Amino acid sequence: MQAESGGAARVTVVDHPLVQHKLTMMRDSDRSTKGFRELLNEIGMLLAYEVTRDLPLEPVTIQTPIQPMEGRRIAGKKLVLAPILRAGVGFLDGMLSLMPSARVAHVGLYRDPDTLQAVEYYFKSPSDLADRTVLVLDPMLATANSAVAAVERLKSRGAKDLRFVCLLAAPEGIARFQAAHPDVPVWTAAIDSHLNDHGYIVPGLGDAGDRMYGTR
Ligand code: PRP
Ligand code: URA
Repeated sequence: MQAESGGAARVTVVDHPLVQHKLTMMRDSDRSTKGFRELLNEIGMLLAYEVTRDLPLEPVTIQTPIQPMEGRRIAGKKLVLAPILRAGVGFLDGMLSLMPSARVAHVGLYRDPDTLQAVEYYFKSPSDLADRTVLVLDPMLATANSAVAAVERLKSRGAKDLRFVCLLAAPEGIARFQAAHPDVPVWTAAIDSHLNDHGYIVPGLGDAGDRMYGTR
């Protein structure tokens, strides 16, 4: 499913049954840390499949055991995966298993619990971001303060071609993200109802980082 919004890049809701099934399992508060992490990894793989659906292909001549043929391979810009720490790392292994040559940029941000503003504590990326497609990864798009800050930081390092991938988004977060970065399309497995007074997604799945690492 795709939605256009006031000139901003599109939001794609990945409503594939496997994704929806696994997401429901993740939302369940009885899910173990191990189960939560495994599911996030698996959904990462499925979202990688969707977010790369339109990558350009080029012809290549190969020799099969039977005869020569013209196959197709991915052309164009190389990929960078940019997880927002900590929870974004949960997508990384699943995505890297499908895109093993991708580079990785780590964006360390935490959300101040009082102000809900994103605070940067780490940033390390390849230097040639301008020549690459950057997939920014974070399971949660709540206020979007973290996503907006991460994309700003990556753009300041030269990134021009970015895509944002999450698991759950709040309508408020989508609106804010599109206002700040109308050039960056979003892929999400679901758009939930709203944010509560503490900036958590409702019904959501709780604190993704804490559930992933068992730190609550
Ligand atoms: C969570 C989540 C996002 C952010 C989303 O991270 O992983 O990065 O909050 O909220 P926002 O859209 O309102 O900015 P958190 O700051 O809790 O850090 P963690 O991943 O280390 O737990
Ligand atoms: N961060 C999370 O991990 N969960 C939310 O619901 C909002 C921000």
